[in-house]
Amino acid sequence: MKIVQLSDTHISHLGGATTENLQRFVALINDIRPTFVVHSGDVAILDPDNAEDREAAREILAGIQAPLRVLPGNHDVGERPENAWADIQVTSERVRAFSSTFGPDHWVETVGDWAVVGLDSEIMGSGLPEEEEQWGWIESLPALIGARPTLLFSHKPVWNPYPAVTEHNISIPDASRDRLLSALADVDVAAFGSGHLHQYAVTQEAVGGREVLAVSAPATGFAHAGLGGSALAQQGIVEYVLGEGDGAGSVRPFFRNLATLTEVPPTEIPEFASALDALGVSL
Ligand SMILES: [Fe+2]
Ligand SMILES: [Fe+2]
Repeated sequence: MKIVQLSDTHISHLGGATTENLQRFVALINDIRPTFVVHSGDVAILDPDNAEDREAAREILAGIQAPLRVLPGNHDVGERPENAWADIQVTSERVRAFSSTFGPDHWVETVGDWAVVGLDSEIMGSGLPEEEEQWGWIESLPALIGARPTLLFSHKPVWNPYPAVTEHNISIPDASRDRLLSALADVDVAAFGSGHLHQYAVTQEAVGGREVLAVSAPATGFAHAGLGGSALAQQGIVEYVLGEGDGAGSVRPFFRNLATLTEVPPTEIPEFASALDALGVSL
């Protein structure tokens, strides 16, 4: 069985390179014929309050033939206050606006013999009522999932792969990670998938005395080369092959991309510059 994760589409209603790249990836995803597709956030180019960008993204994503679930990123709902990019903080109104277009900001799906869980990482550490509601729901998951092997997705990584980088809210807060892992101690999580970094990397993380895969998905919109490290700063998607070869609960992530993409820094994308201007932000 195949599940595809795409991430960080950063779509502008003005179109441009990120739109054209996503259209090509939609065709690739349909060629792969996955059973289920996850978008791990930063659907919109930059501004969570721009409903036109959200709607433009929704229309392109509607071309995906497999069932799709979408998670919010910091550019969709804002993020927790400290170091929020351009001071765009997560609010209940922004979470509601996201959900009205893309559905719930956290969800669980049964896909074949697997469970696939999506978490809203942007409300973690926010103190919003939505955060406590999500924790209550997370604590109900073990009874719901039972013995199924599970994939868990969030926009921000659960572990910070670049401990030296502290200024970008690069992962969920340490206290949230501890609470999450403790709440899911009885769930057979086979892999964690995240977005936000715009880099592809696969690491092994120690969880409850065993090693679990953590997959940082590449962006479809544009890559980030500036974080350092040895991760692959190229655009793409991740195809997860589940339950083949190494047993029923096994997972193998594959990096997939296309030779027809526009692969330039965001500063060379005019629609990105327009979105920055509209926010009054200069880099
Ligand atoms: Fe992003
Ligand atoms: Fe992000």
